[in-house]
Amino acid sequence: MRIIDIIIKKKQGLALSPEEIYFFIDGYVNGEIPDYQVSALLMAILFKGLKNDEMLALTKAMLESGEQIDLSLINGICVDKHSTGGVGDKTTLVFAPLIASCGLKIAKMSGRGLGHTGGTLDKLESIPNFSIDLTSKEFINQVNDISIAVIGQTANITPADKKLYALRDVTGTVDSIGLIASSIMSKKLASGANFILLDVKVGKGAFMKTEEEARRLARAMVDIGNGFGRKTVAILTNMEEPLGYMVGNSLEVIEAIETLKGNVNNDFKNLCYALAQEMLLMTSSCKDEDEALFTIEQKIKSLEALEKLKEMITYQHGNPEVINDYSLLPQAKSQIEVKAEKAGYVAELNALDIGLAAMLLGSGRERKEDEIDLGVGIKLSKKVGDYVNKGDTLFTLYSNGKNEDKAKEKALNAYKIVSSKVNPKPLIIDIIR
Ligand code: URA
Repeated sequence: MRIIDIIIKKKQGLALSPEEIYFFIDGYVNGEIPDYQVSALLMAILFKGLKNDEMLALTKAMLESGEQIDLSLINGICVDKHSTGGVGDKTTLVFAPLIASCGLKIAKMSGRGLGHTGGTLDKLESIPNFSIDLTSKEFINQVNDISIAVIGQTANITPADKKLYALRDVTGTVDSIGLIASSIMSKKLASGANFILLDVKVGKGAFMKTEEEARRLARAMVDIGNGFGRKTVAILTNMEEPLGYMVGNSLEVIEAIETLKGNVNNDFKNLCYALAQEMLLMTSSCKDEDEALFTIEQKIKSLEALEKLKEMITYQHGNPEVINDYSLLPQAKSQIEVKAEKAGYVAELNALDIGLAAMLLGSGRERKEDEIDLGVGIKLSKKVGDYVNKGDTLFTLYSNGKNEDKAKEKALNAYKIVSSKVNPKPLIIDIIR
């Protein structure tokens, strides 16, 4: 077999066989096939696409390139959730303890933020001393003991994806549905859960800008998950405006804790509840939506879900006192309130602009190796559909002095204020089972 023939075959729009896909992945990981030939193949895939069988073979080849976590030693139902990334998306910090308090086991490997999107690991690292580095054995033991662990990806998971993703990043080949679906699913399958819930974001702040693209990605990932015998469901959710009111690492931890305390009633809470409901249904833990909602509300009201977060923080060496004392989290030196220049209704709050504004303040990174400032970010006071008087606070910058003016301009630009009432778009667009 020769890689040049595989490149030409894909260039002609033909489907690759599983053997050809294995040859390409093995050869690339072993260093036998050079970057320039893989780049050419990736570009051909981007233009010609991958059929379902090719996606399955690619996912399998990447999955088998590294360690696979065996969760069979864990008693109980092991579940996982993945978000394709957005702005203000601190869902895991609520969903994971909530679902663990409902009796399921959540063994989750999360990622870091990149570009305008945040990452759960950075948020967790706002908690003093919190450790995201556990060995596979410690990870499994913790899930067995307290039903919850959220960690970084262990070093040996899907090395093929790590190498390919780095190459895609610099060759303009990230945005291929087949490549994204197999990249995400190889990692989800390697981390071992039997039930996988995917939150596929759609809109200005998301990877997928249109509903049609998001639907195709969701369908591809659900088919891959189910093809591997793992029950997989995708929820398409709105990412036109940021989720909740807080954007930035410490700020988002606070909003998550407040949600677990039952003090929050907004789109963010609604999304956490909708995802938890779906998980309780897909694992047959509840018979219908009403029972699932009742269970969730009980776990919040009784503070059992909050207690699970506290247990996880304690197990992962963090300071659980943050739950009662937010001053223990990294703080920004100044808070700058930015006021509306005219009255009207908020018609648009561009999630991408808010994400970029928070990043300018230092909350996100352009490159993987960049340092971030965990204390900075943006607190939104008005969201889509709200009425604003001239002079009302639109948002507050939590700043340590970096790029304040640019961040203010960017965030102001995110707001579009009009004279007639506008309703926010529905949060849940569809569920793909
Ligand atoms: N996230 C991933 O893990 N892989 C992709 O290809 C895109 C987003």
